[in-house]
Amino acid sequence: MRPLWYRNAVIYQIDPSLFRDSNGDGCGDLRGITERLDYIRGLGCTAIWLMPFYQSPFEDAGYDISDHLQVAERFGDLADIVALLEKAEELGLHVIIELVVQHTSSEHRWFQEARRDRDSPYRDYYIWADEPDDAIEPIFPTVEDSVWTWDEQAGQYYRHLFYKHEPDLDLTNPRVIHEIERIMSFWLRLGVSGFRIDAAVHMVRQAGGGDLRQGYWLLEHMRDFVTMRRPETVLLGEIDTDPEKYIEYFGDEADRVTLLLDFWVNNHLFLALARQQAEPLCRALNSQPLPPSHSQYALWIRNHDELSLDRLEEDERNEVLDTFAPDQNMRAYNRGIRRRLAPMLDGDERRIAATHALLFSLPGTPIIRYGEEIGMGDDLERPERLAVRTPMQWSNEPNAGFSCIDAQRLIAPVIDEGPFAFDRVNVFAQTLRSDSLMARTGNMIRTRIGLREIGIGKRRTVEVDDPSVFAIRHDNDSTVLMLVNLADRETTVTITDDDLQDMVDVLADCDYGQPEGTPLQLRLGPYGYRWLRRKQQLFG
Ligand code: BGC
Repeated sequence: MRPLWYRNAVIYQIDPSLFRDSNGDGCGDLRGITERLDYIRGLGCTAIWLMPFYQSPFEDAGYDISDHLQVAERFGDLADIVALLEKAEELGLHVIIELVVQHTSSEHRWFQEARRDRDSPYRDYYIWADEPDDAIEPIFPTVEDSVWTWDEQAGQYYRHLFYKHEPDLDLTNPRVIHEIERIMSFWLRLGVSGFRIDAAVHMVRQAGGGDLRQGYWLLEHMRDFVTMRRPETVLLGEIDTDPEKYIEYFGDEADRVTLLLDFWVNNHLFLALARQQAEPLCRALNSQPLPPSHSQYALWIRNHDELSLDRLEEDERNEVLDTFAPDQNMRAYNRGIRRRLAPMLDGDERRIAATHALLFSLPGTPIIRYGEEIGMGDDLERPERLAVRTPMQWSNEPNAGFSCIDAQRLIAPVIDEGPFAFDRVNVFAQTLRSDSLMARTGNMIRTRIGLREIGIGKRRTVEVDDPSVFAIRHDNDSTVLMLVNLADRETTVTITDDDLQDMVDVLADCDYGQPEGTPLQLRLGPYGYRWLRRKQQLFG
């Protein structure tokens, strides 16, 4: 049997408009990405996740789709996506794309037809009401007052959980499901390896006519659909919900999502960072269910949205907000943080690297967002989530080497001031330094891919005698022990597990020498990390 590619993978998340502009029009594009796939492969990543590149009015960074089967002109055309997929295949990179079918753009032909005529076959693609109710809260409460908007042409209110320009699709309508199938088979045929299912929780609820328990059939249906066509296809679900419900989304028989974006662990990772203590992260890992076989969690530090802290208790949430977003301007939608990791950690490379080491120690599939490998900053002058959406910083050339257009005509301004300005933080400069964050992160990724135990083995957090040290073991044929010091002071921890005494370093933030002592004593510098593996037996 062929190994399941996603079990031992590192995914690189790309915003097509911000990665690389190949034609000098000021906007990133598909060719630009294709030209830089070697860079991503060089880091050691084995897959990319492309954010939306479809036709769209771009009022929500392309999550407002007006045609799911067309490439937006600003990114290129279908031949460009084919070229990207071919190059990715040649390099051994899998490609995951977005499946955004909770809603469409109001400019989508379906919505235009639907609003025009009550008898149109497209009318029932969407959700209408004569009287709005306020039973459901809008997802962006500081931007929208209600999930219902009156449409003059339609003579009814339509529902939109997100922005008013994103009308919700009615997923109980079999014709809508058929449209989703057409979209999936189209992109599968072109060669994608998976879909990130946007807003999956809302979709399931909608598919159940408002009742979550009745809506899981939608995920099963999608799973079945892709399995029939390409069994290794991944469904990566955006599932921000209570961890007790995770199993429902995986399905007992692993017949729903393949990878579940783990907001529970993500939020507790930030609580652990804020406290400089491992306990919240260990608690989160140990209290969430083990995924069924063939499925696993997907883990990340920051994504393209606000860092929403809904999975924490109120006092915990306030702790994280106070630590990492002391100014109101650093927060968004009354619930989250609109900053990148590096500024949250004051640009301290040791601490950023330790946080990366933490991410790559976790059981599941890690995702790293473009620019994290070099510690890119944010631009709080930009509104809402746009703060964390600035062009990739390739070099110290004009526009950070992202585009050759006049700076005023860029799709988004590059960061050109302060400690995260592109002349200080860029790929080129970090390529030249063997101890740069990029070099260290690349080493972690490549080492992580070599430690197969982590993707497929059993895992258990390990108790150590310093609360600032996170320690976890992964067991398969061999054993890996991974330690990260979350505090800014040196420490030495004792490893008491009998079967962890015979370990050697495979990666560390510095040379700690041979592990010694009985029981084993392991020294860690301030924000230090050490990954160890059991000594390989040559015979037997
Ligand atoms: C995406 C957001 C987007 C929203 C609406 C989310 O889950 O991550 O960036 O605004 O879906 O499509």
